[in-house]
Amino acid sequence: MARKPAAKSPSTSTPDIESILKEKRVLKPPAEFAKKAHIRSFAEHKKISKAAQRNPQAYWARAAKELDWFKSWKKVLDWKPPFAKWFVGGKINISHNCLDRHLEGWRRNKAAILWEGEPGDRRTYTYQELHREVCKFANVLKESGVKKGDRVAVYMPMIPELPIALLACARIGAVHSVVFGGFSADALRDRINDAKAKVLITSDGGWRRGTAVPLKQMADDAMKGTPTITRALVVKRIGEPVHMQEGRDYWWHEAMEDASAVCPPEKLDSEHPLFILYTSGSTGKPKGVLHTTGGYLTHVAHTARLIFDLKDEDTFWCTADIGWVTGHSYVVYGLLANGATSVMYEGAPNHPANDRFWDIIERHRVTILYTAPTAIRTFMKWGDEWPNKHDLSSLRLLGTVGEPINPEAWMWYHRVIGKKRCPIVDTWWQTETGGILITPLPGAVPAKPGSCTLPFPGIDADVVTKDGKSVPPNAGGFLVLKRPWPGMLRTIYGDDARYKQQYWSEIPGMYFAGDGARRDKDGYFWVLGRIDDVMNVAGHRLSTMEIESALVSHPDVAEAAVVGRPDDMKGTAIAAFVTLEGSSKASENLKKVLRDHVAKEIGPIAKPDEIRFTDSLPKTRSGKIMRRLLRDIASGKATVGDTTTLEDYSILARLRESDEV
Ligand code: WTA
Repeated sequence: MARKPAAKSPSTSTPDIESILKEKRVLKPPAEFAKKAHIRSFAEHKKISKAAQRNPQAYWARAAKELDWFKSWKKVLDWKPPFAKWFVGGKINISHNCLDRHLEGWRRNKAAILWEGEPGDRRTYTYQELHREVCKFANVLKESGVKKGDRVAVYMPMIPELPIALLACARIGAVHSVVFGGFSADALRDRINDAKAKVLITSDGGWRRGTAVPLKQMADDAMKGTPTITRALVVKRIGEPVHMQEGRDYWWHEAMEDASAVCPPEKLDSEHPLFILYTSGSTGKPKGVLHTTGGYLTHVAHTARLIFDLKDEDTFWCTADIGWVTGHSYVVYGLLANGATSVMYEGAPNHPANDRFWDIIERHRVTILYTAPTAIRTFMKWGDEWPNKHDLSSLRLLGTVGEPINPEAWMWYHRVIGKKRCPIVDTWWQTETGGILITPLPGAVPAKPGSCTLPFPGIDADVVTKDGKSVPPNAGGFLVLKRPWPGMLRTIYGDDARYKQQYWSEIPGMYFAGDGARRDKDGYFWVLGRIDDVMNVAGHRLSTMEIESALVSHPDVAEAAVVGRPDDMKGTAIAAFVTLEGSSKASENLKKVLRDHVAKEIGPIAKPDEIRFTDSLPKTRSGKIMRRLLRDIASGKATVGDTTTLEDYSILARLRESDEV
């Protein structure tokens, strides 16, 4: 993504209550689209939702039957709050569902993955070819000592070996834990250790805006502190020399040479763990969100089909990196389970020029594009001339995910990319939910720019007060889910207590998502953003606490408070308020040092956009940092001058405190 411009007024970033309260536009699904859609009218949507509401288990059981089970389940749902088991007693394999079952008919020679590297190299895998690679790599994993239930860490660029690695894990019942390639060595080490991963799959590097990102070097640093790793499998992507440790590190292509292409899929329990994906919570320690097999696949396969209206002729491109949940669910599993064609792109949207995305869409005749509001806002800023240079007439449906989309960006996406022909699905969900939960169905539900519209059939979502009472129309409240759904996380890896406390204690008896929202008089959801200590920066989840501990780990820093401030491009930018150790001096150079320090501790995505030095942090009498005040200061609501030198916010704090008493 491009560097963000200087911060402007907060008005056009995340849709604050004012802007979305004013939003009155309603856009019906285009008739041409609706005519051919899986779900064709609002009336049909209402009917399905009503039936699913009456009997959600029957609804999901029907969706599960669309998959291939080795053995059917005995019970759809076993719910001992807050622990759910779906399709209990069923036996299934995800890799079999994503690959083998498509080999029986004509789909065996259909493209499963259309891949494009940043330098312009391309590879296509048909279902048959992908199946062969996955079977071979599953055998490599077995030879590397990986057994059912073992954890495998994956730290890779967006290359075809990444989905191959995931599907190979799923084939033998190993649990993958993908760590986004933008995370630092330290972050990778901590995640490997939390999951006690046995094997690490990585590459010599990946291409990003013309530069080789040295992934293996970072993996080497991480592996200095990961006692459980016995082997690393390394894909040669960029071809620059890397250190290979004798007896531990093996090249992917060499290991694959002699691997057998025969590997029958393991018959796994429906509740067998599929993956762990770390995400930021409101404490400093990332949470290992655990997803399992049968329920997860049912959820992502079924939602992919209905929400993206997937047909065999489609070419679907979800631009998310597989390092995030969106990539897991809607680049890999949900798409391949449907026998669809999934586009994958390795690099940056502005390499070699600002029209790379539109160029890819034109060349591959992409029909469905699923991307993030932060990307849309960036494209808007780059100007209409870039998309206008290309033939985008293949597109028939657009989607967004990851953060609230401001109505202005929604309308631009609709007009400039969709040429007013394509419906837009604004899909709300989370790492924890596994798949999409609140969304329009594109041929059925009228859209309102900025709203993710209505719960998917079978999902019981609401906006409530702290004590769990539904709020009246247009009043703000907490976004909750009132009953289990098949793709939900089962726990936080190794920490049931934290799972309970984090999601099911805030509002008794309900899953609390950490988001604020309101519902309008038509029951449409308008998500207002995170209300906990999690920020959503350019669609990436980051915890304020995590960045604070990274800052405090620097010897010059005594104390740090991190808040989000509205940003036109990224949705939220990171502002850090820092007090220094006695002898340390505030300077522009120290700001840079601290930003780099955070990049080293967590990753470049967590670098503060702004650092302000202060000699005291505003605190309440009980010693709690007054974040609300800092947020106001960071967003320019409370003016203070130049920020290179030390500032004293204590006066403001005292003023604010007297307000509050
Ligand atoms: C936010 C990404 C508004 C929300 C799939 C949520 C959204 C967090 C939307 C999860 C949307 C996601 N409208 N906000 N359509 N989609 N969010 O775990 O705050 O990376 O809690 O999962 O993103 O982010 P995560």
